[in-house]
Amino acid sequence: MSGIHIISEKELRSLVKLDLEIVESVKVGFSELEKGNATVPPIMMIPVPEKSGEVDIKSAYIKGLDRLAVKVASGFFENSKLDLPSGSGLMLVLSSETGFLKAVLLDNGYLTHVRTGAAGSIAAEYLAPETVENVGVIGSGLQARYQMQGLFLKRKFSTIRMFSLDSDEVRDEYVRDLEKELGVKVIKAGSVEEVVKESSVVVTTTPARTGYINSEWLHSGLHITAMGSDTEVKQELYSSVFAKADIVSCDLKSQCFRLGELRSAVEDGVLSLDSPVVELGEFINKKNPGRTSDKQITVCDLTGVGVQDTMISLTAYDLALKNGIGTLLG
Ligand SMILES: NC(=O)c1ccc[n+]([C@@H]2O[C@H](COP(=O)([O-])OP(=O)(O)OC[C@H]3O[C@@H](n4cnc5c(N)ncnc54)[C@H](O)[C@@H]3O)[C@@H](O)[C@H]2O)c1
Repeated sequence: MSGIHIISEKELRSLVKLDLEIVESVKVGFSELEKGNATVPPIMMIPVPEKSGEVDIKSAYIKGLDRLAVKVASGFFENSKLDLPSGSGLMLVLSSETGFLKAVLLDNGYLTHVRTGAAGSIAAEYLAPETVENVGVIGSGLQARYQMQGLFLKRKFSTIRMFSLDSDEVRDEYVRDLEKELGVKVIKAGSVEEVVKESSVVVTTTPARTGYINSEWLHSGLHITAMGSDTEVKQELYSSVFAKADIVSCDLKSQCFRLGELRSAVEDGVLSLDSPVVELGEFINKKNPGRTSDKQITVCDLTGVGVQDTMISLTAYDLALKNGIGTLLG
C-alpha cells in the first residue's frame, strides 16, 4: 500500500496490549541484537532541566526486516502538577528498502510503556524465582502499572507492596486500579525497606537521582529489576546492591554502563566494564541459563533499547494493516 498511514493513540491502544504476543515480539528484538543483527545508534537525549524533562530519540535497524522505527519520546516528571502524564511522543515507521516514511504512530508514549513492560516481563521470565507470592514496586506512576502487568504474565503473584512519593489520592488510585486489573491485593507500604524485605521480586520505576535500595535489606532469592534510570543523572540502587548480586543482567551493556544503574556502580568502583553482566538476549538465545537456584540474588538494569521500539512499532503497524485501522494520507 502506498501513502502514509497515520494511527492515533486510541487506535493503537485498541490494537496493542501488554500480552505474551507483544513480549515475544520484543524478545525477537533482543535476540537479534545479541546475535549481532541489529544496529542501535546512540540515544539522542535533549534535557529540559527547568521542567525535570527530557526528550529521547531512539532507533534500531534489524537485519532482514523491511522496516525500521525511529522514536521520539519525552518524560516530563513535573507534569503531574498539570494533571498530565509524564510521558508522550510518537514513532515513525520507515521502509528499510527505500527509506520512505510508511507510518506515523501517534502513541503519546503508550507503545514505549508497553515495550518497557515487556522488557520487565522478559527479565522476570529468566531471573525471578519460579514461585512468587509477594512482589514490590517503587513508584505508583505509569511504569509501576506496566511493570506489574508484565511481571504478572510470567509469575502469578498474589500481593503487591507499593511505596512512592505520590499523594494519598494517587496511591489509592494505584491500589484500586491494580487490584481490579490483576485481581491481587495491593498494600501501601510505609517504606522502601518494607517493600524490599517483604518481596521476592522488586521493580523500581522512578526517576530518582540517588539510590534508595540499600544492600542491607537484600535477602536470599530476591530479584530486582531497576528500570527507572535511563539517563546519566538517575539512580535507584545503591552501588553496594551489585556487590551482593549473584547474577547481574541488563538490556544492553553499552547503554547501561552509560545511562543505567551500571554507570553508578562503575563510578563507585563496585563494577568494572569487564564485570560479568548478562544481556537479556543471552538468556533468550540460551547462551546463559539465568537463575539456577531459588537462593540467588539477581538484578536486571533496563535502560530501554531501540530494538524494542522497532519491534513494537512494526507489530502495531502490521496489526493496523491487518485490521484496516488508521488513516491513509497521500
Ligand atoms: N528503561 C526504560 O526503557 C524506560 C522506559 C520508560 C520510562 N523509563 C523511566 O522510568 C521512570 C518512571 O517513568 P514513569 O513514566 O513511570 O514516571 P511517572 O512520573 O509516571 O512515575 C514516577 C513515580 O516515581 C515515584 N518516585 C519518584 N522518586 C521517588 C523516590 N525517590 N522514591 C520513591 N518513589 C519515587 C513518584 O512518586 C511516581 O510514582 C522514569 O525515570 C522514566 O524515564 C524508563
